[in-house]
Amino acid sequence: MTDNRVLQQASDYAIDYLGKLDHRPIGTVDSLDELRRKLDRSLPEQGVSASEVLDDLVRDAEGGILGSGSGRFFGWVIGGSLPVALAADWLTSTWDQNAASNVTAPAEAVVEEVCGNWMKQVLGIPPASSFALVTGCQMAHTTAFAAARHHLLRQRDWDVEAQGLSGAPAIRILTSENRHESILRAVRLLGIGTDAVIYVESDTQGRMSPQALEAVLSAEPERLTIVSLQAGDLNTGVFDDFDALCPIARQHDAWIHVDGAFGLWAAASPRFRHLLEGVELAHSWATDGHKWLNLPFDSGFVFVSKPAAHRAAFSQATSYAVPLEALRNQKDWNPEWSRRGRGFSAYAALRHLGTEGLSDLVERCCDFASRLVEGIAAMEGAEALALPVINQGLVRFLSPDGNHDRRTDEVIARIQTGGEAWFGGVTWQGKRAMRISVCNWLTSEQDIERAVEAVRKALVEKPAH
Ligand SMILES: Cc1ncc(COP(=O)(O)O)c(C=O)c1O
Repeated sequence: MTDNRVLQQASDYAIDYLGKLDHRPIGTVDSLDELRRKLDRSLPEQGVSASEVLDDLVRDAEGGILGSGSGRFFGWVIGGSLPVALAADWLTSTWDQNAASNVTAPAEAVVEEVCGNWMKQVLGIPPASSFALVTGCQMAHTTAFAAARHHLLRQRDWDVEAQGLSGAPAIRILTSENRHESILRAVRLLGIGTDAVIYVESDTQGRMSPQALEAVLSAEPERLTIVSLQAGDLNTGVFDDFDALCPIARQHDAWIHVDGAFGLWAAASPRFRHLLEGVELAHSWATDGHKWLNLPFDSGFVFVSKPAAHRAAFSQATSYAVPLEALRNQKDWNPEWSRRGRGFSAYAALRHLGTEGLSDLVERCCDFASRLVEGIAAMEGAEALALPVINQGLVRFLSPDGNHDRRTDEVIARIQTGGEAWFGGVTWQGKRAMRISVCNWLTSEQDIERAVEAVRKALVEKPAH
């Protein structure tokens, strides 16, 4: 018999943590030295009881747990966990299916099929596209580029899966300076190399110029090309003009990829959907579940308009895992072999929210982001650098001595130490800025008011020196 009391204990701790999230400091309070002192024990010879391990872990880790699930956490683009998604995630761990194959995880395989179809419907992606549930947008890019690499090289009779890249026709990546670093890492992982990345001129907000794209493509029409566009810039949330850019890239037989880590979710809202016009002309799309869909980590999705290329890059037969027929076999589309069944929590969240709930979540976050940026920018000594297009914005803080960068970092640090709200810093167009990202289902009107007050307080506090 399993002793399940430790599971009840964990559930009690989890519910207690979630209940305290609104009051505990959002930032971490323990130094690294303190965390090491508490957690770095010698490995015991004789095991410790499950209950004691759990008690100690909760007590010792607490000071190093960032309250990123709080409704007043606006750093990075993180999102929280919908209770229904978290509950399904607990069950996922309990069922402990190996989602590599539809034989070892048939219910998960069916749920992934359903999620793939629901997501295509919500995100406006062509229904015949293939998909995979991966760890995050990083692996979504990598999966998409592997499919693109296969497709482009196949046109030159090069079988990259068999022949590798040595001696292969070169592939280049056209993108904008504002691309997320994960694009570059996907290029590195696939052996294409960052020297193959060419930055196409973009406007002051980071949107790729259609004229510049046309010029670069026409200059070397023979080159195999991936054009990597953005739905939601990581700092400003701006969207590339897909309607203008995709037809140009298509005319030149380029593969079009879209980084929509959070921005693709704008498609769920009738108010913001227009920002994605033309996005269906792309060949691959990457997004996250652990951002705006508010699934627990980790969760990403990739979609590919050419299933044959996608499958060619990943499928692998084994005699010990013969798949069930007439059911999508996960490892034919995923980069991992053994893997977690990420479908259950996605399924739970999508079904719980429905299309109306998704639209409401997206619009609420966008409205809150505007209120935050405007509320902060209206304070003396603050200014907006980028007003939100969707849920992202930038502000900075001004110093009478002109050193606005130092002042901005100083105010961010004070807000973080205050514990009431959490924002992160970034260098944007040569200026230090405070990034504001709202994508947590939990964020409320009161959270926005409390966060604005926390910024006001940090602004008037006298510097420590
Ligand atoms: C625009 C954009 N692309 C890609 C990523 C990488 O996503 P992940 O961390 O899920 O791999 C992020 C993460 O913040 C992002 O904002």
